[in-house]
Amino acid sequence: MACFLKKLYADKKVRAIGVCNFHEHHLDELLKEAKIAPMVNQIELHPLLSQEPLRKYCADKNIVVEAWSPLGSGKVLDNSVINSIAKIYEKSVAQVILRWDLQHGIVTIPKSVHQNRIIENANIFDFELKDSEMKLIDSLNQNERTGPDPDNFNF
Ligand SMILES: NC(=O)c1ccc[n+]([C@@H]2O[C@H](COP(=O)([O-])OP(=O)(O)OC[C@H]3O[C@@H](n4cnc5c(N)ncnc54)[C@H](OP(=O)(O)O)[C@@H]3O)[C@@H](O)[C@H]2O)c1
Repeated sequence: MACFLKKLYADKKVRAIGVCNFHEHHLDELLKEAKIAPMVNQIELHPLLSQEPLRKYCADKNIVVEAWSPLGSGKVLDNSVINSIAKIYEKSVAQVILRWDLQHGIVTIPKSVHQNRIIENANIFDFELKDSEMKLIDSLNQNERTGPDPDNFNF
């Protein structure tokens, strides 16, 4: 963990510090040395890349998972299975995906340049997906990335 992050945390300037795009083996390496374990791991995560093993690993280590591209950069929005669930609740596909994240305890950072969509994406607290619907969305996983695999990316 970078020294300046540890200092910010020790000085109580920030309440949590984290990492981004860490696979399990990156976290293993970090946790061997780190005096302060990261509290968050921000990773690509959406219904086509549900990252279940890494989520479980993070849960075991008390690391919150934060999903970047939670809507698959828009590519998951035409999914017919999620669309059929959305119709039941009179919600949008984006709202169902973000609700699926919420019920899994995943933090999301959806991006939109449209005010109405930003409001829509925050309006997910008045419905609840059934277990069967959660599992149906879980089953859509294809391990399909929209961005680069952190193992093959030159940071
Ligand atoms: N840490 C990393 O390595 C990393 C990598 C990539 C991205 N990120 C971060 O992750 C965040 C989100 O990522 P992202 O922008 O790639 O993907 P995203 O949030 O999954 O999808 C954004 C796309 O979905 C559209 N959209 C958003 N809400 C919608 C809605 N309610 N209905 C219909 N379309 C909707 C947006 O279009 P409009 O804008 O036109 O509404 C945009 O095309 C960003 O803050 C980004 O910085 C982090």
